[in-house]
Amino acid sequence: MRKPFIAGNWKMNKTISEAKDLVTSLKEKVAGIENVEIGVCPPDIDLPDVVEIAKSSNIKVGGQNMHWEESGAFTGDTSPVMLKELGVDYIIVGHSERREYYGETDEEVNKKVKAAFNHGLKPIICVGESLEERKADNTRDKVEKQVKAALKGLNQKQVSQTVIAYEPLWAIGTGESASAKQANEVISYIRDVIETQYLDAAEDVRIQYGGSVKPHNIEEFMSESDIDGALVGGASLQAESFAQIIKKAAQK
Ligand code: PGA
Repeated sequence: MRKPFIAGNWKMNKTISEAKDLVTSLKEKVAGIENVEIGVCPPDIDLPDVVEIAKSSNIKVGGQNMHWEESGAFTGDTSPVMLKELGVDYIIVGHSERREYYGETDEEVNKKVKAAFNHGLKPIICVGESLEERKADNTRDKVEKQVKAALKGLNQKQVSQTVIAYEPLWAIGTGESASAKQANEVISYIRDVIETQYLDAAEDVRIQYGGSVKPHNIEEFMSESDIDGALVGGASLQAESFAQIIKKAAQK
């Protein structure tokens, strides 16, 4: 049985003091929930405080991006070794904003995914099609290509520990989510793609939906067969709305 995973991607939001307030308040609101895994992914600068506050709670902490090298002349970057030493559990890799604004390629995503496993971090790999690709009926091809490229070279055990977030670009930050049916269709396709190559691991890999997930629509997504949780942007920036999403997911 796959344990649903609700993760919050704070993006470039929250100063250190705001981050401390948010995670402190969230911790109280979601205390005792064990049937859903809970994660927050703050900006790097907030990580030490958030990790400290989340310690001995049911909240896991993730980074939003990292370099694949352990150290070196890469101005402005953070390495997997640094994140691991801090006590970070997860790392978002290949978010569409990184792919779009920073030109991150499938090959780089794959290097980051491998680096994550080499350093004991679990990747949350983001994939998804643009509106043009959906209109041209290219959704399946696009996500299949992204998934295969991201997982290249991993073994079955690593694949089973991977989290994938299916996030159609047209649904991110727009308030226009995919329908639960649309999301489930693509997510089960992703599972099929994984099965052809990694067999049983496909049953373990958790695949989240992301894109305008809110307290009012989380239940629809959670009631679908293949959706194992959500990667939440905007609605994770307030403890109350994020806690509501988690609680509703936990009731499913
Ligand atoms: P959103 O962002 O919930 O604000 O649409 C989701 C994401 O980008 O992960």
